[in-house]
Parts: sequence; structure tokens; C-alpha cells
Amino acid sequence: MALDLFSPVKLGSIALKNRMVMAPLTRNRAAEGGVPQAMNVTYYEQRATAGLIISEATPISAMAHGYPALPGIYTEAQVAGWKKVTDAVHAKGGKMVIQLWHVGRISHPSLLPNGALPVAPSAIKPNGKAFTYQGLVDYVQPRALELIELPGIVADYEHATKLALAAGFDGVEIHAANGYLLDQFLRDGSNQRTDNYGGSIENRLRLLLEVTSAVVTAAGSDKVGLRISPVNPFNDMKDSQPQALFNAVVDALNPFKLAYLHVVEGGIHGGGIADPFDFSALRQHCLSPYIANLAYDKARGNAAIASGHADAIAYGVPFIANPDLVERFSTDAPLNAADSSSFYGGSEHGYTDYPFLKA
Ligand code: PHB
Repeated sequence: MALDLFSPVKLGSIALKNRMVMAPLTRNRAAEGGVPQAMNVTYYEQRATAGLIISEATPISAMAHGYPALPGIYTEAQVAGWKKVTDAVHAKGGKMVIQLWHVGRISHPSLLPNGALPVAPSAIKPNGKAFTYQGLVDYVQPRALELIELPGIVADYEHATKLALAAGFDGVEIHAANGYLLDQFLRDGSNQRTDNYGGSIENRLRLLLEVTSAVVTAAGSDKVGLRISPVNPFNDMKDSQPQALFNAVVDALNPFKLAYLHVVEGGIHGGGIADPFDFSALRQHCLSPYIANLAYDKARGNAAIASGHADAIAYGVPFIANPDLVERFSTDAPLNAADSSSFYGGSEHGYTDYPFLKA
């Protein structure tokens, strides 16, 4: 029988009961101190029938924050909060990894310790507005990281990985997508450094490979996934040669034998893509299992798995509105519509109160 969304699969050491992955989704509902709280436990537990849950993007340090009410993974209180989440997901037979995040320039002094400037590869202000506790405000010009600061960033990823394992996650996903710090180093629209971390593709890959090496050393390669978004323009991102850059990223990651590569195959938040890009060609480069993401439905997901393009499919918005998305797909049941006004922040409403098919 042909493989489909409901076939089991192993991503590294993580055994999935089906190939429907819950994509990382920012929901801005953590408690004070970036500590996951009771409603976060309920939300993830409700979605444990997914083959794999990827947590919302989670800052690895106080300087990695860029939005209100994010959960973190750098204090003991956060570990204790996450442990309740992973215990609940595991008790329901689910698997869960945490997405490790540093936002870089996509932040604001009001969200950072002592009103610090956001950090970035280069002091280039992104177009757009930051989401702060005071509402939307213009981004500021970030501060370019000094060479001597980069080992500290790598160490923060390593520390967060160790805490993630202590919190009971089945693995970690390195967030190298969507215009945040590691993606800012990769793409030449945001990286204009003249040292070993900028200029050539090889140099722009350096921080990502150092982070990957540290995370793999801490967790084991079979527990580490990584997410990229080669042509996503979100967060004012661009690159002069995306295909060459991201084919090189995948080639350079292959020796790590990661559990999976997770690819956002377009522009998020309804943004189109500016550049032509051949995702099949990228996939041909990839020796790890491949998770495809962005606007897949059941039919396209099954087709991508049957053709060998993808080993699993990550669904975002459908999992917000349908905790039992796996059952709905498998029985061709209608889907709940998602209410975008409750995506970011707020209460249990629009978070844990979407109805299941069966009460
Ligand atoms: C968002 O909050 O809009 C967001 C966060 C993380 C992402 C992408 C988008 O990777």
C-alpha cells in the first residue's frame, strides 16, 4: 500500500504514529517569566494525536525575545512548566519537540533586559513594526553582534537544548527560518558583515553550523531537526541567490544526519514569494527526512508523501482550530474555521475551546 499521512514514520529517534505534524505556532499565552501555565498544558495535550507536535517558537535567552508573553527555555521555572506539557502529551501517546528561537533584530528594547538594543548580524533596521506590550511600534536599528559575542549565542542554544531534554522533550528543532537571527545570518539582505560570518555563502552559513554542531553534541543528531524558509519575505527578508544559498545549507547540514529538515515552502502570513525557487531540487539535496509546510491540505499532503517529496507534513492554522485534525482528516469530517483574532495572546478562548468531533 502507498504511504500516506496516516502511515507511521521515524524521524531520527522519534517514532511518529502518523505523518501529520503540528507546526510551530506563536500563541503568546505564557505566564510571567516565560513560564508555561495550565492552559498551555491543556492546549498541547488536546493536540497529542498529531504524529509530532513542534512547540511554539521558544526564546533561548532573555535577549532572544521579540514578542509579548512568549514561553522561554532558559530558566528552571520554565523547565518545570514545560515538563507538565511534555508529561501530558506523552500520557496521551504523543511526541513533542521544542523549537529553539532567537529573534535577532525582530524585537524592541521594551521587550529586552534593561531596554537593550536588539542584536543582529548587521545594524540594518527591518521595515515593519514590532509587537510590544504597548502595541505596534516601529522597529529600531539593531546592534551588530561583535565577533567575540558569537560563542555566547552558540552556548545559549546548547544550554537551551540541555534544558529542553530535562523538560522531557523528545528532541529540539533549530529555528533557522522566517527572518529571525539564524536566517538573518544566512541571507545577504540582512547580513552585510565583512568578517568570517558574512560575505560568501560559506561564511553566512558559519553561525548556523556552529549552533547545529553544539545542539547535536548536546542532544544527539537523532533528536535534532531544523527549519528553514528559503524564500519567505516575512520580516523584510531577501537574498540575492536563494537557490544557491539554501542548496548549500542543505548540503552542509547533511553530514550531521539530522532527525529531519523542515521547510517552509513559501511566504507565511499570506505573503507571496518574490523569488522563483525549486523545492524539489532542494529536496533532492536533502539526505534527512523532510517535513514540508505551508498551506497543505489533506490531498496535497497525501500526494507529497506518496510521491516521496515529503516524509511528513506540518499543518499550522488547521491544528489551531482542530485539536482532532488527525481524526477529521482520516474520516473526511468537516474542519472548524480558525478565528484569527484570537491567534496571538488572550485567554483560553480561541485557544483551548475549539470543539472536538466527539465530546
Ligand atoms: C509570528 O509571531 O508571526 C511568527 C513567529 C515565529 C515564526 C513566524 C512567525 O517563525
